[in-house]
Parts: sequence; structure tokens; C-alpha cells
Amino acid sequence: MNVYDAERMADMLFPIGYQVVNTPDEADLVILNTCHIREKAAEKVYSDLGRLRKMKAMRSTNPLIVAVAGCVAQAEGREVFRRAPHVDMVFGPQSYHRLPEMVARVHRQKGPVLDTDFPPESKFDFLPAPKAYGRSAAYLTVQEGCDKFCTFCVVPYTRGAEFSRSVTSVIADAGNLIAGGVREVILLGQNVNAYHGEAPDGEANHTEWGLGRLINQLAEIDGLDRIRYTTSYPAEVDEELILAHRDVPELMPFLHLPVQSGSDRILSSMNRRHNKGQYIELVGRLRAARPDIALSSDFIVGFPGETDRDFRETIDLVEEIGFVGAYSFKYSARRGTPAAALPAQVEEAVKTERLQILQNYLNAAQTAFNRKCVGTDMPVLLERRGRHPGQLVGRSPFMQAVHATAPSHMLGEIISLRIDSAHPNSLAGRVVDYNSEVSPA
Ligand code: 5AD
Ligand code: SF4
Repeated sequence: MNVYDAERMADMLFPIGYQVVNTPDEADLVILNTCHIREKAAEKVYSDLGRLRKMKAMRSTNPLIVAVAGCVAQAEGREVFRRAPHVDMVFGPQSYHRLPEMVARVHRQKGPVLDTDFPPESKFDFLPAPKAYGRSAAYLTVQEGCDKFCTFCVVPYTRGAEFSRSVTSVIADAGNLIAGGVREVILLGQNVNAYHGEAPDGEANHTEWGLGRLINQLAEIDGLDRIRYTTSYPAEVDEELILAHRDVPELMPFLHLPVQSGSDRILSSMNRRHNKGQYIELVGRLRAARPDIALSSDFIVGFPGETDRDFRETIDLVEEIGFVGAYSFKYSARRGTPAAALPAQVEEAVKTERLQILQNYLNAAQTAFNRKCVGTDMPVLLERRGRHPGQLVGRSPFMQAVHATAPSHMLGEIISLRIDSAHPNSLAGRVVDYNSEVSPA
């Protein structure tokens, strides 16, 4: 979502004369769009700010404006100015539609600008229509914020309460992207399947639509060939969404469905509102609806109180489900969250060891899945040029990166590739038929 937000910030600044450049040296304004989810991400901001301080000090004719945006800004507010006095602007993820005004204030008052209130208005009502920028796959935020309050997580505090955009505004944005050449839309939300957007006018019986219904509607748009959504919360996957996986061919057979842990005791202490059995049952229903669906997950190891036995249950779950990919993290205590105050914090060395073990299992499963694809033909949406001349890179239905030597006119097309080899994080293939596109999945 930070990628999406950063782009929207650029869209907001374009009318007042800014454009995106490649390096901070060329910039008049540098915005660090930050993540607060784990301590490591949050601390990185201050080391980046250290580098920008030197750069700013060296400017004479063209002064540099330095801004901190996103969730670190939201969580730390004024503290950012204290630790980094050369920062000019601090603003949170819900107020960046006010950027032009903030920039004007920095110029006017020659002093720092802080904007971390949650505004009563929605930023989406102020953002210009999104552009395709030559891409064939694009993010589209449909939902933001979180009311789940997992005990480890800062998101409900930094992104705020759950909010869903109206169906009409989502469809309008999707239409704009598709008109610009986008063929795949990735619907975004911290809790994307908690989506309950205002129904279009004239819907007497349903005042709100869920994600499943929204996906059905989006699939009707001509030119939209692939739909994905991320990130989902298991306890909010409803029947309509499961049926969308069965009925909507545009909906790709890949789902990121974080489980966090395989231990019921830990899941309960995390306030996850689902246990291991319910998760397994849900995966069964998804697989019944779409037998080839591939799943990935997030995991946290070393949550307070996690014993060897709890950890073993996570490994058992990994073995049982067969995830094709995953993000896994050491638990990071975040100030203000309930879990940070739990007594039984796990030692760093234990977390490191568990993470290594878990990642070995997850990597093996991912490699096995990639290997299984060798010899098959996969429809790949070729999205960009690769590092080598003549090479294009795209995504398989299962979100795998696939490289192939292909003519550049195939950029933006869905091409059948015969998979020749598998690597831990990607596949390599060759064009099967030079004359035609194939169906999306
Ligand atoms: N420590 C470690 N990982 C975390 N995540 C969220 N909060 C924390 C934390 N305090 C992970 C979860 C979530 C992903 C986005 O980040 O696995 O799904
Ligand atoms: Fe954080 Fe996701 Fe839990 Fe919300 S559901 S509190 S975003 S981990």
C-alpha cells in the first residue's frame, strides 16, 4: 500500500509543478514514505534521514525540502522533528491529499509542518483519477485501516479505523486504469476482505457490497483480465468471496491469507479471532471452490509466550497446508501494543533460530511448487523489461515472476510460456505461440 500511496502523493504534487526523479540528488523535495510495522523498518527512516541531512546542508541555490510520511510519521509525530530537526514536514497516511497546501506552508512559514490528525474527510475524495503510467498491472486501494487489533500490531493505530471506498469510486478508478492500458488490478486493503463499500445508486436492497460482489462487478469491465486482492483476514472470508473464486475466471488462483501461527494458544493471545482448525477448514472451502488455488501467508515467530511446542505446531501447519510462498518475521515488540507488555518475551537468539527453521520449510515448499511448474505452459502477463536484452518479465496466475526472451511488442500481453526452469524466487520460460494471446489463467 505504501507503493500505491507514494504514487498518489506524486499525483497530488504534479499540478503544482513537481515530477518524479530517480535520485534524491535531483530532487527539490524528498518524501520518505515510512513503515512502522516492525522496529527495523521504523529505525531505517532515521538512518535515511541522516544521509538527507548532509545532502540538505550542501544545497545552496536549490534548497531541499525533507518530508516524512506514512506510519512512522503517524505514530511518532513531533518526535520526528526532535530526532531529526532538518525535517520540514511530517504527515500521516490519511492526510497526504493536503500535500500541496503543506508544501505551500513550508515555503511560507519557513518552519516545520505537522499533519497527523485523522481528517474528517476521506483523502480519496481529493485525489485525482489514477493513471496507468504505462503499466499493465496496477494497485487500487479499496479499503484501509483495521479494527481487528491483533495484540502485536500497530496498524489499527497508524492507519486508523476500517474504511471502505464506495463501489462507484472503485469502478471509476478501475475504468481509468484500464483505459490507460492496465489489464490486471490488485485490490488493496489492510483488511481487504472487510470491504463493505457503499452500493451504487438504485440498489434498494443492498446498501453495501462485500468484496465478492465488488470482484464480480469489476470482472464485467471490458479489458480487465486479471483481478487479485491483498491482504485478507481469515475470519472475514465470507461465502460470497469463496464463490467468486469458483465463478469469476478473472480472479487469479492465488491468495495471500496470513495465519501468523499454528498454535491455538498463541493465536488466542494474538487476538486473531481464528484458530488453527478454522483456518484449515477455510482453506478446504477455498480449495473446493477453486482446486488449483495457491496460498501464501505471513508468520510471526517468537511471539511472547511461544514455546518450542507452539512453534512445532506452526511447522505442522506449514506442512499441512503447503504454502507456495510466505513472509516470516521475528516478533518485534511495538510500543503501545498489548503484546509488548506481556511478561514472557522470547529471547532474540531463540527467535533467530526459529525463523531460520521456519524459512527452511517455507523455502523448500516454494521451490517444490516452482519445480512442479517446469514443463507446463502458463499464461503470463508480461509487465516489464528484464535485466538482459530481449528479456521480458511477467507474472504467472500464481504470482510467480516469470522471465522469457520475447519480442517487446508482447509487453502488456498475456502470453503462454512453456516453463523451462525453476529458481527459488522465479521461473524462466519461452514463448509457445508467437501469434496470439491466451486466456488470463
Ligand atoms: N512483529 C513482527 N511481525 C509483525 N507483523 C505485524 N506486526 C508485527 C510485529 N509487531 C507482520 C504480520 C503481518 C505482516 C504485515 O507483518 O505477520 O501479517
Ligand atoms: Fe494488524 Fe492485520 Fe491484525 Fe489488522 S488484522 S491488527 S492489520 S495483523
